[in-house]
Formats: sequence, structure tokens, C-alpha cells
Amino acid sequence: MLIRTIDYKNNKIRIIDQTKLPLKLAYIDIATLKGLWQAIKSLQVRGAPALGAAAALGMYLGIKDSSSPDWVNFSRKLDAAAKYIGSSRPTARNLFWGIERIQAVARANREKPVSQIKKIILDEARGIMREDMLSCRKIGLYGARLLKKNNRVLTLCNAGILATIDYGTALGVIYTAQKQDKKIKVFASETRPLLQGARLSAWELHQQGVEVTLIADNTAATLMRQGLVDLVITGADRIVANGDAANKIGTFNLAVLARYHKIPFYIAAPQSTFDLKTKDRKGIKIEMRKGAEVTSILFKRNSAPQGARALNPAFDIVPHQLISGIITDQGVITAPYRVNIRKTLKCA
Ligand code: MRU
Repeated sequence: MLIRTIDYKNNKIRIIDQTKLPLKLAYIDIATLKGLWQAIKSLQVRGAPALGAAAALGMYLGIKDSSSPDWVNFSRKLDAAAKYIGSSRPTARNLFWGIERIQAVARANREKPVSQIKKIILDEARGIMREDMLSCRKIGLYGARLLKKNNRVLTLCNAGILATIDYGTALGVIYTAQKQDKKIKVFASETRPLLQGARLSAWELHQQGVEVTLIADNTAATLMRQGLVDLVITGADRIVANGDAANKIGTFNLAVLARYHKIPFYIAAPQSTFDLKTKDRKGIKIEMRKGAEVTSILFKRNSAPQGARALNPAFDIVPHQLISGIITDQGVITAPYRVNIRKTLKCA
């Protein structure tokens, strides 16, 4: 089944409303910047690469009706849109990368009439979506080489179709291996508090015909000790210069468990997730979300006494020492990361 997470149609951003899954596959059309901000904040659209595309399209929403005749006024609008979208969620590098790509292409064309700059911006945002489709497939090809027939892969959160335009990073690796007839089995860790593993990964893997078994997050150690996991593969929201990688809360737990059980632990991510200006994990801002996500089951039913305090960091950081390799669209990067990331991604 072909699934497209995000698109631009009839002057609106069309997304799958991921808060409705797995009960309903519903699409919503977003016509305003405020609507996009809310959709990002509430995780109707989520996952680092999808956020990069959403942010880029959002930049277009922010300026498309601008009547500013000159660059100075127009660029103020663009900067305001950038600031606003950037205030939605802090951790995924892709979101800021999407914004910066649009700002850069606009600046490079500042001498042109505003009407033309607008068109260039929309083309760039569409280009970002096309690039993601391509780069996820390359990640899939590089990653699938690491998988042997009948391997059992553990993953967390959702780094699949729903986190990208249409293919996925960590789950893209699985889809490619499946096409190669490797008969991969997946354990999806449910991913409390918002259950992206259960609601989204289990749903899309099932749709794609991959054998998936859902586990509660606290089952991972037992599975590993029983020898039921061959590899762990997750996505990432931000990978910094030394290879430290931020991803959904609980990823660090899995990396520690994998090391203890001598199981390879891989991260899959496109170039747009890398933040090489940040040296190490100390420079990564972790999003803190509402306690109500923890004290309830998807806001529908309280799972803690009224007034209970809750702490809810949305991400944690895997130190590079625990990562066996980073599967990118340019190849699989291994240690020493500080040198090899730059070499593989061809950065100066
Ligand atoms: O809070 P979310 O659902 O946006 O978190 C998403 C993740 O942690 C993904 O693993 C990450 O963005 C990589 S997606 C290819």
C-alpha cells in the first residue's frame, strides 16, 4: 500500500493526521502557519524528515499571500515565519534545516521580483520532499546490506513512512530487505508515553506486510537475553559532530541494553539530520512535553492520581560509543565518528 505522509495540494499542506492512527487513516489540509505550528506541536505531523518538509512548506505558507513589493519587507515576513515555525519543537535538526534551506534559496534570488521568489520557494520545498523520497531509498539499500535472512530487528518509536515523505529511515531498511526477500521480523517497542511504536510503526509495518510483534518498552531486556533480537535499528532527530544521536526517549535505554547483550545498535538517518556545528550531546536541546502525556493514556484516561507530578522529556541521547554504525544516504558511517561523518558526508 502506498502511503504519503505529507504533500502540497490546492494551496494547502496535506498531512496524515497521525494522532488518529491506527483507528483511522485521516488526512487534514493546513492553510495557515498557525495551523501548521499546532499540527507539529500536537504530533499530527512528526518524525524528523517529515518535520523538515513540513517546515519548508510552512515557510511558503508564511509568505505566499504577502503583498510586499520589495525584498526588504518580504524577507521580514520570511524571517518571522522562520522564527515561528522554529518555536514549535526544538530537537529535530531537520525542522531547522528545512527552514534554513528556504531562507538560503530566497536570499540567493533576492534580486528577482517577489512573485518569482515565492515560486522558487515552493519549488524548493517540493524539491525537499523529492530528495527525502530518494534519500530514504538509499538508506534502505545501505542498511539492508547489514541484514541477513530471517533477522529479527528491534525498533522504537516510528522512523518509517509516517516519519518521512513515503518510505522511512529505520523502517525503510526493513522495507528494502523485505523486497530482497530476507523475511525480516520486527519487534516494535510501543514507545510510551504517546505510543508511536504501537500506533504508527506496528500499523505501517502491518500495512506493508512485514511481520511485526509489539512489545511493551520494558520487555526489550528480556527479549535480548533470550537471544531473540539480532539487531536494533532506530531513527534519529539530531546527530552531532562526534556521533552522539538524539532520538525518542528510550533509545538510550535500548543502546545500553544492546551493548550489554553484544547486539549491534544502528541509527538510520538522512544528511538533513546531522548538525555538525554542535560538538557533542551537551549542545542538544531536548524537548520537554506536558506531564499529562505521562499521567494519562493518550489523554483519554488518567493512569495516575489527580495532581501527580510527571517528567516528560521527549528525547534522549545515545552516546556515540554505543552506536555500531549510522546508516545514511551516503553509506554506513562507523567510528571514529568525528572524522568519518565529515568524510562520508563530504563536509569541509
Ligand atoms: O516525537 P516524535 O514522534 O516526532 O519522535 C520521532 C522520533 O523519535 C523518530 O525516531 C525520529 O524523528 C526519526 S524519524 C525518521
